[in-house]
Amino acid sequence: MRSCGCSPRRTGGGCWSPPVGRLAAIEAIGEAALAAIATRASLAGVRVLIGAGRTEEPLDPVRVLSNRSSGRMGFALAEAARDLGYGVTVIAGEVSVGPPAGVEVVRVRTAGEMLREVRRREKAHEILVMAAAVADYRPRQAAPGKIPSGRRDLALALEPTTDILSSLRGRRAGKVTIGFALETERDAARARAKLEHKGCDLLVVNNPLRPGSEFGGETNEVLFLYPDGTEAPFPRASKLEVGREILRRAEEIRQRMEEPRRRAEKKRPRAEGIRTRARKKPARRPVRG
Ligand code: CTP
Repeated sequence: MRSCGCSPRRTGGGCWSPPVGRLAAIEAIGEAALAAIATRASLAGVRVLIGAGRTEEPLDPVRVLSNRSSGRMGFALAEAARDLGYGVTVIAGEVSVGPPAGVEVVRVRTAGEMLREVRRREKAHEILVMAAAVADYRPRQAAPGKIPSGRRDLALALEPTTDILSSLRGRRAGKVTIGFALETERDAARARAKLEHKGCDLLVVNNPLRPGSEFGGETNEVLFLYPDGTEAPFPRASKLEVGREILRRAEEIRQRMEEPRRRAEKKRPRAEGIRTRARKKPARRPVRG
């Protein structure tokens, strides 16, 4: 019920909602249900690809280089997308929570594997949201055996991984690409440079050092950043609610991208009709003589 907007709410200060414990008016429930059915129908056939969780880069057979992402945000997005009626595929690295039911999950471990699986599938998905915490560096060479202790110091040689989003730049014309930006300082210029560099239609900026946005937490507080410079803060909310908001914005962008095609389609039947008539062969005149 909560997802169709009819949850009983606390009244007060001109709020339209009925008192806690009472159901909303039957008309409101009916309207919300119809709206939800219409949305599901309009989104059927639209596919969302989500990168979730953290990647792990092996140092040796028993150790990895990784980060503290739990996968909650990516899975919350998948759950929200599934509930809206999208077809959902998640490319999931290591995670600390289980995936939602009813979505296709492809498991990967390293940044290289995530790159391969995302690139393999992105063409078939109208919306891509990279919520994964992908390693930026990996050991140049994983040690074949366990690295022994007892050394005075140990230097690891690392090499950069491929930036998955940047590698898709210019390849997703007409499709929506959304990235996350993990920033530990509020630096809009840095986030804007990231948006530009990664070729995203929308960047979801969050700070894991802020209370309410921590790694593994149930909530998130984000800032939406658009290529035209528009910024829209979204207050602290459950990751599921943040996921719904991301998808609402993704859908807005997708509709805008579809507009020229829809307009062209509206014009086409008339033009085709005229052409068909024009192409009709003229009746042959009887040859005299
Ligand atoms: N990302 C990616 N491929 C990588 C690294 C990151 O596609 N090899 C994606 C993430 O999934 C996220 C976005 O890029 O959607 C930004 O990730 P973030 O960690 O914030 O930024 P980085 O690109 O790693 O840059 P920096 O570490 O300098 O902040």
